[in-house]
Amino acid sequence: HPRHFVDLWKQDVATLRALIADARARKTARLGWPKGRFDADAPARDRTLAMIFEKNSTRTRFSFDAAIRQLGGRSIIATASDMQLGRGETVEDTAKVLSRMVDAVMIRANSHETLERFAAASAVPVINGLSDKSHPCQIIADLMTYEEHRGDVAGRTLAWVGDGNNMCASFMHVAGQLGFTLRVAAPAAYAPNRDDIVLGIERGARIEITEDPREAVAGADAVIADTWVSMGDLDHDERLAALEPYQVDADLMALAAPDALFLHCLPAHRGEEVTDEVLDGPQSVVWDEAENRIHAQKAILAWCFGG
Ligand code: CP
Ligand code: NVA
Repeated sequence: HPRHFVDLWKQDVATLRALIADARARKTARLGWPKGRFDADAPARDRTLAMIFEKNSTRTRFSFDAAIRQLGGRSIIATASDMQLGRGETVEDTAKVLSRMVDAVMIRANSHETLERFAAASAVPVINGLSDKSHPCQIIADLMTYEEHRGDVAGRTLAWVGDGNNMCASFMHVAGQLGFTLRVAAPAAYAPNRDDIVLGIERGARIEITEDPREAVAGADAVIADTWVSMGDLDHDERLAALEPYQVDADLMALAAPDALFLHCLPAHRGEEVTDEVLDGPQSVVWDEAENRIHAQKAILAWCFGG
């Protein structure tokens, strides 16, 4: 069976820990190197990664492309609407064909079901590059970033503020395995999905949900924000109105622990979910978080290739 990387709740603690450790080791080992040079072990030498995008991307696209190159492989990138997928060829048939041509497939999908169907029909590893339900690769980079600044995340409290979206779900999926408490502050209309809360709790997660951002952030070790309007969300005005009290500004950050970090997967909507003062401030680690996408993708790719 190919090693798919579709959802974090399916991964055991040892795998999650190994991914973060490998990402950090790869980052350290090539400090100061030109970004195009291969890692010493080049575990994806002779491998090709296909990337299919149904939605926009900057970080995921560039980091996966840089990552597969640094691992010694190469990529083929396509927009789903340019493919026959966009004219009705089935997901399963596409998966069977690409399995004969490439060694792994990363997909950014509108619907999580597309990823699951692709993975079920694919003979090669399938990686979730974000869906409406989850964003597992981002969470590996985020936890790596937290730990490089503050050490083990186990026993810490992370506060998610805003929409209970795909990113929030992925944090809930690993909170139990990695031993951190996740507090979520969201308005009732945009609270996290029950199924994702259950998946987390079944794996031992401590998840505390409130509508009050001040309560969620009080004493927290990290404050995490994301856009209020994710790709595919159509209720833009309703979201902005409901989420306005959830902006992470300096006053809200001041309620967190004095050494709390601010995380955001980016792209940021400055002046909406976060102020410039916080995003560009001393507690923000968002640029490290973006860089760490490369290192995390490399650990994920190497794992998919059996490393
Ligand atoms: N954080 C993230 O996944 O960014 P992109 O949408 O630019 O890939
Ligand atoms: N929640 C956002 C994350 C973007 C990287 C979205 O799905 O659009």
